[in-house]
Amino acid sequence: MSGTSSGTARGMVPAKLDLTVRIGDLVMQNPVGVASGTFGYGEEYEDLVDIDCLGALYTKAVTPEPRPGNPAPRLADTPAGMLNSIGLANPGLDAFIADKLPRLRARRCAVIVNVAGGTEDDYLRVLDALEAQDGIVGYEINISCPNVAHGGLSFGTDPVQVERLTRRLVDAVGSRAMAGAEARCDRLAGRGRRPLIVKLSPNVTDIAAIAKAAEAGGAVALSCINTLVGMVIDIKTKRPVLAMGSGGLSGPAIRPVGVAMVYKASHAVSIPVIGLGGISDADDALQYLLAGAVAIQVGTAIFSRPEAPLEILAGIREFMEREGIEQVADIRKLLR
Ligand SMILES: Cc1cc2nc3c(=O)[nH]c(=O)nc-3n(C[C@H](O)[C@H](O)[C@H](O)COP(=O)(O)O)c2cc1C
Repeated sequence: MSGTSSGTARGMVPAKLDLTVRIGDLVMQNPVGVASGTFGYGEEYEDLVDIDCLGALYTKAVTPEPRPGNPAPRLADTPAGMLNSIGLANPGLDAFIADKLPRLRARRCAVIVNVAGGTEDDYLRVLDALEAQDGIVGYEINISCPNVAHGGLSFGTDPVQVERLTRRLVDAVGSRAMAGAEARCDRLAGRGRRPLIVKLSPNVTDIAAIAKAAEAGGAVALSCINTLVGMVIDIKTKRPVLAMGSGGLSGPAIRPVGVAMVYKASHAVSIPVIGLGGISDADDALQYLLAGAVAIQVGTAIFSRPEAPLEILAGIREFMEREGIEQVADIRKLLR
């Protein structure tokens, strides 16, 4: 039985595969999502990807005000990856609600809004406004942002700040979900809160401590990992290639770091962990699921292969059939 609680004997094709993923009250139809900042708000990919067949679409960051992002150049190639310093460029909260959300509402996949800010109040402002909107099933909180009120160090590198920010945001979502008749009924039935997923920064010494801090603050799930700090220097100009100097490294180069961090984080907490970082094919995704992730996201790979996420989904199905696993959540039990 290779340790599966719901599996059939190894080698036998299970009668029915269950690919659904539960994150708090949220049910995703499958474990494959597209990562924040690599899929926009879905519009550019409508003709290239059957978005409704994805498990989840994590939007580009939304901040209270529009952000033009950092000056160019803000992209650089690296071996097996890329470096970006896009700087959370986005149209801002009001334009997101007016122009982007109506199209996202029609989506069958789970629409999860990635929230960013430079102060705790920025995050609260975005959540506050989005709580009044339908068509969103959860929030992913990007804590890799520099905390402008505390010298610009990322929120995500300090467990005390992570726990405090998470608690404030969880309270905000909870209290708003309790307003109104429909929400009261939801609460009585024990449902209705949009899950808060805290997206961890890998630029820390002890990812387990940060994961535990987010859990203690009330996060319903974690996503892991964001980009790693990197720099490329042009030896002819003797300047960094990116206008900002350093940027965020993504792509296959960071996958082993992501897998190790998902392993550590998922064994340190009892809330679900969503894995990402350098996933290009089903084997990469399966490494994350074996490491302890309940779901995955595909990021940089989409730029060159928009079809990658749905191919990965097919590959996960094939693996489950081959291994005789009925429920995707049981893949992690196969790790020896
Ligand atoms: C161009 C670009 C923009 C990104 N923008 C965001 C963002 O707005 N919010 C966020 O949480 N992560 C953002 N990320 C990080 C990705 O969501 C992901 O965590 C990271 O790239 C690692 O996954 P990957 O190697 O599959 O790309 C961005 C990544 C890239 C490459």
